[in-house]
Amino acid sequence: MSPLRKMSTPPQPNPAPEFIPQFDLSCQYAAIGEEIRTALERVLSSQQFVLGREGTALEEEIAALCGVAHGVGVASGTDALILALRACGVEPGDEVLLPTSTFVATGSAVSALGAKPVFADIRPETYNLDPSELERRVTPRTRAIIAVHLYGLAADMDPIVAFAKSRKLPLIEDCAQAIGAVYGGRRVGSLGNAACLSFYPTKNLGAYGDSGMIVTNSAEIAARLRPLRNHGQTAKYLSSEPGWNSRLDEIQAAILRVKLRYLADWQGARRSNAAEYTRLLQQVPGIMPPHEPEGCEHVYHQYTIRSERRDALQQHLAARKIASTVYYPHPLHLQPLYAQLGYKSGHFPHAERAAKEVLSLPMYPELRKDQISRVVEAIAEFVKC
Ligand SMILES: Cc1ncc(COP(=O)(O)O)c(C=O)c1O
Repeated sequence: MSPLRKMSTPPQPNPAPEFIPQFDLSCQYAAIGEEIRTALERVLSSQQFVLGREGTALEEEIAALCGVAHGVGVASGTDALILALRACGVEPGDEVLLPTSTFVATGSAVSALGAKPVFADIRPETYNLDPSELERRVTPRTRAIIAVHLYGLAADMDPIVAFAKSRKLPLIEDCAQAIGAVYGGRRVGSLGNAACLSFYPTKNLGAYGDSGMIVTNSAEIAARLRPLRNHGQTAKYLSSEPGWNSRLDEIQAAILRVKLRYLADWQGARRSNAAEYTRLLQQVPGIMPPHEPEGCEHVYHQYTIRSERRDALQQHLAARKIASTVYYPHPLHLQPLYAQLGYKSGHFPHAERAAKEVLSLPMYPELRKDQISRVVEAIAEFVKC
């Protein structure tokens, strides 16, 4: 035997652990890229780019998914909120009630109309609007309510709907993070007067750019929305009120139609990943996994845990090449944007505490079980020290 062959292999350094991202759209594209390219080719061949057949078909398909009669495609989830508020009659100077724990767009849509956001606290276990806050915050100037289904979990809609009906206030659902989620056997989007969806690329149903939709059972609201998204035009070059240019483009609609066929499978994979996280986290003290109330089906846009040592935990995960994100570090009432409204720290204790403690872990359909174990092992290691 040659001396060379006798030599043992030198010890190898441990391979660097694989980075676990917050979400990974590239594996989705690897799986469906061919269908997407075929759909794009169809639009390019048609040379119709705005408000065409793809958009109309998508409106019907999304409305059917949500269990309502009408869908009106627009350019973003933010526009969907602005137009829905306007179609429900919100005018400058009106007040709109909404939870303070949400993405800033929910509030800025109200402000964009010259209306005033009036914030409300959340339930600490679901992060969604506390229905008992509505009675406390409503005033004679209140003109609408927005309920946000944060992280993919429906807000507790029965008492919210009952309150809105008792005050004859239109109720708008912000479903940007929750397409397909279920509350009491019904899909979100079918519970209020109108509901707003975002197809921002990282959403559970994400386009390759911005786009959004309003869904509603009201023929009257849908009929108001169609001109509003297109310069207020009720006929070609005839406008009876100011509107917006917020039209759904055909390329995004065609992409979304491909992805819509996979949405149920993707949501199933998200739910199975969430179940695995929750099973493993049961052994880890001091960490609160997300709560799924009876009768709700969470779609886990985010899998969000709570820890009193959140910032240190996030650093610990980052040092182990595990991404995590705080959605959202500043409740809306404490945003500099709303300083003039006069809210102070302490006004909404549940939302403020959540902002200090929540942490969203990696979550996407293709996340592997061994990656989930690694995330939970890293959390358990942190909790011990
Ligand atoms: C709760 C919520 N509302 C509204 C929006 C706005 O949607 P878009 O980004 O499509 O304008 C988002 C998007 O991130 C959101 O998360």
